[in-house]
Amino acid sequence: MMDSDITGKAVESMDPGGSQVEQSSQSHQGLRKPRILLAASGSVAALKFELLCHCFSEWAEVRAVATPNALHFINRNTLPGNVLLFTEEDDWCTWERIGDQIVHIELRRWADILVIAPLSANTLAKIAGGLCDNLLTCIVRAWDYSKPLFIAPSMNAFMWTNPFTEKHLLAVDELGMALIPPVSNRLANGEVGTGAMAEPSHISSTIRLYYVQHI
Ligand SMILES: Cc1cc2nc3c(=O)[nH]c(=O)nc-3n(C[C@H](O)[C@H](O)[C@H](O)COP(=O)(O)O)c2cc1C
Repeated sequence: MMDSDITGKAVESMDPGGSQVEQSSQSHQGLRKPRILLAASGSVAALKFELLCHCFSEWAEVRAVATPNALHFINRNTLPGNVLLFTEEDDWCTWERIGDQIVHIELRRWADILVIAPLSANTLAKIAGGLCDNLLTCIVRAWDYSKPLFIAPSMNAFMWTNPFTEKHLLAVDELGMALIPPVSNRLANGEVGTGAMAEPSHISSTIRLYYVQHI
């Protein structure tokens, strides 16, 4: 169990090691709610992260991760009270010596499903290339691909249609990540174009349906 005196968070269910196998099988039998790790990167659609947390909280146990740039768009004080938000500080402040638990590994172990919504062009490029320079990208780099990982990109239409995007999407598709495509909507600069994140309710219902059918 992660020490609450280190994280300052009562993460009682983050029990690593042997008990995890038991927890997973309990999930399959419907004895507990699915565990969704919901991550935001620095797209303007992170303004909808609070709504995303509410949508997923209706049917799942939710932990949240935000990159430093996502925090420009998220008011952590208005997230649902039952959703714990993890940031860079948590990853660095909880580890002091060999043997201490590491947040990105424990979150990776805890989650049944990882959802990155919104996924910025920058974080897409990083995960496509295997970079792991923050809490979110470390979780992805350590991810167990026998568990689902969904991405919901959100970016300016010029970024979305840039050739890099297709290359990076092909790379993450090969890894087994599932794409929830962006839609045409009003973008950060007010223009309308394709690249806006799918609606939170659509993202939540898509993943709920997947969970019911596959897990
Ligand atoms: C106001 C503003 C809005 C932005 N919106 C987006 C966006 O919707 N999608 C995107 O990919 N990048 C967007 N960016 C750029 C990213 O924030 C930038 O690439 C950042 O490095 C992403 O960091 P992260 O991927 O580590 O979270 C925006 C930047 C600003 C200043």
